[in-house]
Amino acid sequence: MELKQFIQQLPKAELHLHIEGTFEPELMFAIGKRNGIELKYSSVEEVREAYQFANLQEFLDIYYAGAQVLLYEQDFYDLTFAYFTRMHQQGVVHVEFFFDPQTHTDRGVSFSTVIKGITRAMDDARSHFGISSGLILSVLRHLSEESALQTFEEARPFLSYFIGIGLDSSEMGHPPVKFSRVFEKARAEGLKILAHAGEEGPPAYIWQALNELKIDRLDHGNRSIEDDDLVQVLVERQIALTLCPLSNLKLQVVKDLRDHPIKYMLGKGMLVTVNSDDPAYFGGYLNENYEAIAEALNLSKDDLRKLAANSFTASFLHEDEKQRYIQMMYV
Ligand code: ADE
Ligand code: ZN
Repeated sequence: MELKQFIQQLPKAELHLHIEGTFEPELMFAIGKRNGIELKYSSVEEVREAYQFANLQEFLDIYYAGAQVLLYEQDFYDLTFAYFTRMHQQGVVHVEFFFDPQTHTDRGVSFSTVIKGITRAMDDARSHFGISSGLILSVLRHLSEESALQTFEEARPFLSYFIGIGLDSSEMGHPPVKFSRVFEKARAEGLKILAHAGEEGPPAYIWQALNELKIDRLDHGNRSIEDDDLVQVLVERQIALTLCPLSNLKLQVVKDLRDHPIKYMLGKGMLVTVNSDDPAYFGGYLNENYEAIAEALNLSKDDLRKLAANSFTASFLHEDEKQRYIQMMYV
């Protein structure tokens, strides 16, 4: 079987996806037009040409600007349902994804507008496509602790909609420890704890995510391999890493996909997974990430099966559902 087809037919879960990062320029223009909001670009092509990033911050500036056209419940529904439609075409059966409430509430869009649109699309994804999903509230780390605490209080009436809390945005200068108190509150409410760390930031930030935030899963974590003790802990505790190959290439975390650490990490026994992060901006959804990394690192079909199986092991699904999907991999 050809590589592409092999990847297509593998059951897979996506565990690192920002819904705002699935905003394709065509939909951005359509929603902007119906809401009477002008984008600073004059065409879809011009938008795509702007997607050249030297680092994380250059991407984030464009990503937050794109999200400004989202105003109404239907906008959040359309964004989310478009993503699930693509995932259905890619053989994805489960998704655990982030949204950035502060990006919307800071513009005067209410928490409930955002949640209603997103969760209605999640319900429809289950009934139309059989795709299950879980929503993760992500805190913007470039904003203050006070803003994060206030956002968590605003989220309280909606906590039953969330499986977890995450930490994203500009990493350097914003260590995980800045948000210890917010994450403590979230943990007390039974939410799973996630954090982006070690994408651009040093291993010390990953240690903090582990020891101070007490994460259940690590987003990115590329730079963990610089610290042997850290690798050992991640292996011993089987803390899952959600790696994002095309994101890493586009944001220059790696200069070439052949330098990507995922194969080395697999060899070390780390629980690594493949994900797409912000696919509309980075040139590929989940299958394109599997294809690109398989080609660059010459991964075998067994490696790819292992990565897909890991996506279920690392998920927050019930144990019996994890086993059901993993067994499908080896028929
Ligand atoms: N927000 C969206 N994508 C992100 C990434 N790759 N790193 C940090 N924050 C993000
Ligand atoms: Zn991310």
